[in-house]
Amino acid sequence: MTLQPHEDVPAQGTTYGNGDHRIIGAHFDKMAEKYKIGSKKVEWIGPIVVFEALQAEINKRSLNNNDLFILDLGTGHGELGEHFKQKHNGTVHVTGVDLSQEMLKRATEGKHIDRAIHSGAEDLPWSPSNEFHIVTCVGVLDFIENTQNFAKEVTRVLKPGGLFGFCYEPQGTEFPGVKSIKHHTPTLRGQFERNGAEIITIEEQPSIFKNFITGVPVTNNIMVGRMPD
Ligand SMILES: C[S@@+](CC[C@H](N)C(=O)[O-])C[C@H]1O[C@@H](n2cnc3c(N)ncnc32)[C@H](O)[C@@H]1O
Repeated sequence: MTLQPHEDVPAQGTTYGNGDHRIIGAHFDKMAEKYKIGSKKVEWIGPIVVFEALQAEINKRSLNNNDLFILDLGTGHGELGEHFKQKHNGTVHVTGVDLSQEMLKRATEGKHIDRAIHSGAEDLPWSPSNEFHIVTCVGVLDFIENTQNFAKEVTRVLKPGGLFGFCYEPQGTEFPGVKSIKHHTPTLRGQFERNGAEIITIEEQPSIFKNFITGVPVTNNIMVGRMPD
């Protein structure tokens, strides 16, 4: 099934996706206006933490020399792109993917992304192989069940030597009444390794945001990896 752009929002790019994607996209369309304020309120630090982890690898591997092509999956308002653009000043080109046209609209208006694609993160048929130096996915895997396909696609679209950085909710961090998909870290790791990737670090971040009802800090894992040269 192909997603149709919402009538009241100008199309931001090619439209792909299927199944529950429609519901998730509609949910985030409604949240888009207040998303930034909400993120501040719950002290969401996922994008900056992943940016800093990747920047450390970029420095270590001297990837600063050339233009960087970045794919941000589930880009939201494009905060990840904003950090890269501030640091790299005109030499990064960010493609933002999201199921929500309203989120893509804001990321585009903020000039945090250069290209907006209305698509699911698990399937990237619009991208040729080896297109990106960096792939990020922050606060989105909690909506993604099919990580096997996700791993296949992320590793396919990365260039040799390319980096990836994710922030996700690991198993054991369940909150009663909160519906989000938790990931078993060894399974996720294995899916990437089977597609040829090397996992560089997996770090626990004990307060990635505060539960908006209880105020209790929520743990996420930060996974950084790379493709062989
Ligand atoms: C919690 S927000 C995170 C946004 C941004 N990455 C950040 O850290 O601020 C989740 C975003 O992922 C998008 N999303 C959820 N599931 C997705 C999927 N399967 N494919 C692409 N985008 C998805 C939502 O529409 C929403 O914009």
